[in-house]
Amino acid sequence: MKEVVAIIQMNKMEATKNALDIIGIPSITAYKVTGRGKQKGLIIPHPSELPESGKKNMRYIPKRMVSIMVEDEFVPAVVAVICKVNRTGNYGDGRIFICPVEESVRIRTGERGSVAIS
Ligand SMILES: Nc1ncnc2c1ncn2[C@@H]1O[C@H](COP(=O)(O)OP(=O)(O)OP(=O)(O)O)[C@@H](O)[C@H]1O
Ligand SMILES: [Mg+2]
Repeated sequence: MKEVVAIIQMNKMEATKNALDIIGIPSITAYKVTGRGKQKGLIIPHPSELPESGKKNMRYIPKRMVSIMVEDEFVPAVVAVICKVNRTGNYGDGRIFICPVEESVRIRTGERGSVAIS
């Protein structure tokens, strides 16, 4: 099992979620995050997208982070879909990280492993 962690633009969340659903990945965790990449947050989004407190000297940009646990063989498809939906060619399109996952437990049934991530 792997965790695919993608940090994406806020306005791509809905399309990303829908595209993953279409390839059979309905389960997803989403976080509201702030972050910066190689440009150190100096590419400023439109002011309407920023919280009031961040309009001056913004160095952390609001993003969405999604976490998806999948079997190893699904990782290439998940990465491809996230890239397809999120790539505009502009700075800040996002990043994807892939991490090992040791175990999964569905609390309701006690199922473990692959059956507990589908
Ligand atoms: N090495 C990293 N560690 C942790 N988070 C990161 C790292 N690189 C990027 N991020 C996160 O990913 C978000 C999006 O990064 P971004 O798309 O700007 O990456 P980038 O490497 O600067 O690429 P680009 O040059 O296309 O902008 C950042 O806001 C930050 O939250
Ligand atoms: Mg960047």
